[in-house]
Amino acid sequence: MHHFQYRDNEMFCEDVPVSKIAGEVGTPFYVYSHATLVRHFRAFDNAFNEVPHLVCFSAKANSNLAVLNLFADLGSGLDIVSGGELYRGLMAGIPPEKIVYSGVGKRKDEIEYALKSNILMFNIESIQELESVNRCAERLNTRARIALRVNPDVDPKTHPYISTGMEKNKFGINKETAISTYKAAQKLSNIDIVGIDCHVGSQLTETAPFVDALRKLKELIADLEQLGIHISYLDLGGGLGITYDEETPPHPDDYARAIVQELGKVPFTLIFEPGRVIVGNAGALITECLYIKKSEKKKFVVVDAAMNDLARPSLYDAYHAIQPVMQNKRSPFIADVVGPICESGDFFARDRKLPEFEQGDLLAVMSTGAYGFTMSSNYNSRPRVPEVMVKGDQFHVVRERETCESLIQGESIPTFL
Ligand code: LLP
Repeated sequence: MHHFQYRDNEMFCEDVPVSKIAGEVGTPFYVYSHATLVRHFRAFDNAFNEVPHLVCFSAKANSNLAVLNLFADLGSGLDIVSGGELYRGLMAGIPPEKIVYSGVGKRKDEIEYALKSNILMFNIESIQELESVNRCAERLNTRARIALRVNPDVDPKTHPYISTGMEKNKFGINKETAISTYKAAQKLSNIDIVGIDCHVGSQLTETAPFVDALRKLKELIADLEQLGIHISYLDLGGGLGITYDEETPPHPDDYARAIVQELGKVPFTLIFEPGRVIVGNAGALITECLYIKKSEKKKFVVVDAAMNDLARPSLYDAYHAIQPVMQNKRSPFIADVVGPICESGDFFARDRKLPEFEQGDLLAVMSTGAYGFTMSSNYNSRPRVPEVMVKGDQFHVVRERETCESLIQGESIPTFL
């Protein structure tokens, strides 16, 4: 069941009218459906029921404390890429033994924080990083569990900005270098090799690139066995896509079937780092139409949300469906939906057929639960918008709207001025 639906022409999130939230918190705001978050997490987790596995939700997609706390309760681990995400995860109640740390540029202080927190493993992306993790572990008189992030060189057939597993990308270690890096890791005093990792890209709509990557990892695991290096965790990263428009990504069950079939009988725990597929369609950005601006050639729906609140259309030319909060009987028109920021790139839709919006109407920018709020900024000194979670007929502001005071928090004017 879809949890953003119309009742008597009015959009509800679960059992709450979206206009009611707008009335209480103002616009713009992000709204997340609790039931959708739960359903999506369970659908993914249950798809792998027959094999030992751990779902480490990818914090970068949506790192709100309430969202992470909900996933912690459902048994989720966390895929993090910074000390900040580690802090959020721990504060939200994610057990450290379920946290994996990815990313090409881990700082020393971040590595130490993760070691002190005793996370499950570091996904290592270069020989220098490996050495740095070893040195930090030595200094703290502890041991670091690591996996190497291998770049499987498969084409994920997705947007170039979010494809990560090709030789030309900055991520991971190529297959040839992986063996020598594992050998080097074997010799380091404070490193325990526990896994192998890859992530081929994001918003994938086919299973083939995942299966190709898994096949390459399996070959590598066999080579490692020959060297006496045993793997306990195979981390396949995230990347499963969602429907924004007309994409037809595989259901988690199909994705799982393809992977489990390629895997065969293997004695390790699978790790997944899904982000978008869990939260993407669980959220919407609600914004109000400020003005309708018409010229001879174009119509613009000027709304109160902007590219600083949702960067995906400007950054990737991404498509997000735009729906009216109140359905109207007016005939559709073709328009651009644009924000107040002083950039031509500040748009949510271009030349889109839309219901004829009027000043004061509420618009819902759909499928914005992933990489929506987490990528927002204060550009143009716009306070970041609140996030609201709905559960049944209740809703709660899980992050307050920023204020003008919060915009200048931490800034100061030096005495020499
Ligand atoms: N694991 C690693 C190592 C990653 O780099 C990512 C995403 C994920 C997991 C989660 O991927 P997902 O399941 O969400 O596809 N800002 C872009 C997406 C960037 C994804 C970066 N890495 C967007 O808005 O489309």
